[in-house]
Amino acid sequence: MIKRKLHFSAWQFILASVFVTFSTLSVYGQDAATNDGEPAAPVEAAGSGNAAAGEALFKANCASCHKLYKKAVGPALHEVSQKYDREWLYSWIKNSAALIASGDAQALAIYNEYNQTAMNAFPQLSNTDIDNILAYTDTPKPAPTAAVAGATGAEQSTGTADNSLNSIVLAALALILVLLVALLFVVNSTLKRFADANGIQTDFEEEKEVRRPIWKAFAENQFLVLVSAVFLLLASAYFAYGALMSVGVDQGYAPVQPIHYSHRIHAGTSQIECKYCHSSARESKHSGIPSLNVCMNCHKSIGEVADATYQEGINEYGIDYNKEIQKLYAATGWDSDEQAFTGETQPVRWVRIHNLPDLAYFNHAQHVTAGNIACQQCHGPVEEMEVMYQYSPLTMGWCINCHRETNVDLANNGYYEKIHEELSKQRGGKQLTIADLGGLECGKCHY
Ligand code: HEC
Ligand code: HEC
Ligand code: HEC
Ligand code: HEC
Ligand code: HEC
Ligand code: HEC
Repeated sequence: MIKRKLHFSAWQFILASVFVTFSTLSVYGQDAATNDGEPAAPVEAAGSGNAAAGEALFKANCASCHKLYKKAVGPALHEVSQKYDREWLYSWIKNSAALIASGDAQALAIYNEYNQTAMNAFPQLSNTDIDNILAYTDTPKPAPTAAVAGATGAEQSTGTADNSLNSIVLAALALILVLLVALLFVVNSTLKRFADANGIQTDFEEEKEVRRPIWKAFAENQFLVLVSAVFLLLASAYFAYGALMSVGVDQGYAPVQPIHYSHRIHAGTSQIECKYCHSSARESKHSGIPSLNVCMNCHKSIGEVADATYQEGINEYGIDYNKEIQKLYAATGWDSDEQAFTGETQPVRWVRIHNLPDLAYFNHAQHVTAGNIACQQCHGPVEEMEVMYQYSPLTMGWCINCHRETNVDLANNGYYEKIHEELSKQRGGKQLTIADLGGLECGKCHY
């Protein structure tokens, strides 16, 4: 009777704890969900013009040269409507060159201040469009502390919610374990008392002496010993073989680079083509790493990442993306306030990831251009990599397997057209593999 009762209440307790754990879980889940809202769109400003429409126009036409709060190619435009009168702004924005040519003093002043850089003419913008743009540039600057605290605060609270959620679950599990242990003790002692009360002997000392230890029984059974010895030998040979075969294989190698450079953002989100940066992959043996000039084609005007990207970097990868761009500026000697190079440069020492031993010859053009193989087939899902890593083993077996399995792409490439034609005639039109081309000959890959 006692036992049954105990059993029942233990289950009740466990079920109750599980229920409590899950209900806190779902409450926190809801909190986290409601916390990541989009920042509110700019509201219509007090003056004339629609700031939301203006924002779209600004981003489409002006953002390449102007920022709101910082100098870029042109001046910062925040509250520019207070600097000039409307009519002047209409004519400046529609055609600044004409205004300068007319000898307007204000126009000449700003033109000379910016080293006579020409601003595009926007004859297509109506006065209403310009009003909208100015309404957008007039929207009050979000108070910096409030904005940062607001943005990171919201994210942090989801972060801490996640963390405290984890610790709550862990604490609940620990509690359940402790309770189970306590419960077993109670059950054990109750049963003992029960047995004592009924005069049942619970002392098993004597029986123990009579029983043969299990290891002795095992040692005496020769068949069992033999089987286990063979099993142990095979298992250790298997693991030793695995360990030896992985010597010198750096699959998964992902060193920390001097500038945190995300292929996910560049090749993925921004869809920049691989060959924009690794331009020599098509023509030469090496793919090469782009020089920093290539980066500055874009980063002269991209000094900061978008807010959403910034938050993602902080929360998911623990990286301050804007600081990483500052490292790029330091290395190239770019002064973003003056919009000029200072001439003080430092080389960036990228850590090399893929590296075949000197005894092997590998040529990118052969594979990318002649073989028509996508970079991803060997380098993996690069456009998803926040940190670049070695995806393939780069062993000889890996090269050979692909050469055995891959058919020569006859349709899509005129590079070896003659040879391909001849060979495929010899083989009666059967599919040609790279191995048929001689892709398994030692000399092709070894110097
Ligand atoms: C090709 C780059 C470029 C684009 C695009 C551009 N601007 Fe400009 N803007 C400039 C430059 C450079 C100046 C500084 C004067 C100069 O050198 O002509 C300037 C000056 C101005 C000024 C005067 C600011 C001041 O503080 O004196 C205003 C206003 C302005 N631009 C508005 C706009 C608007 C609105 C757009 C979009 C419809 C736009 N600009 C697009 C380059 C550009
Ligand atoms: C905007 C320039 C840029 C673009 C676009 C780009 N990369 Fe890169 N890539 C780099 C830089 C810089 C490095 C060196 C830093 C690193 O390893 O993350 C690099 C490194 C690599 C490496 C490792 C090199 C090594 O050390 O072994 C591979 C492989 C690679 N990129 C492949 C690709 C592929 C495939 C694509 C297209 C999907 C691509 N990259 C697009 C700039 C770029
Ligand atoms: C074709 C334009 C382009 C080129 C070329 C380019 N970037 Fe970027 N880069 C961007 C854009 C766009 C962003 C910001 C994306 C966002 O805000 O969501 C960015 C973000 C970054 C960031 C912050 C995110 C991160 O990856 O850590 C760094 C650092 C950076 N770039 C470094 C480089 C380096 C180094 C090179 C040269 C090898 C380079 N970029 C070449 C467009 C470019
Ligand atoms: C057939 C497999 C294969 C393909 C396809 C391939 N790579 Fe590679 N890649 C390699 C190997 C192997 C290495 C190591 C080469 C070495 O150490 O000599 C490498 C090295 C690199 C490096 C380091 C620098 C260098 O050249 O040694 C970069 C960057 C790179 N690859 C980018 C690319 C890009 C971009 C593409 C697509 C245009 C591409 N790869 C296509 C196998 C491949
Ligand atoms: C993803 C498949 C793939 C992998 C992996 C691969 N290759 Fe290739 N390889 C090819 C293809 C396809 C060609 C044929 C190109 C052509 O049409 O001429 C080729 C051709 C070659 C050739 C020229 C062969 C000839 O007869 O002209 C050499 C050398 C070569 N590969 C070396 C290597 C080495 C070294 C590795 C490993 C580091 C490697 N390959 C990995 C697909 C691959
Ligand atoms: C398709 C290209 C390819 C062909 C064909 C090829 N190898 Fe290799 N071999 C490699 C690569 C790549 C490595 C380096 C692998 C590594 O670092 O793990 C290698 C490594 C080796 C090694 C090991 C060297 C060491 O120090 O670890 C030997 C030995 C070797 N190859 C012999 C041969 C012989 C013999 C043949 C002809 C029957 C041959 N290879 C054909 C690509 C090839």
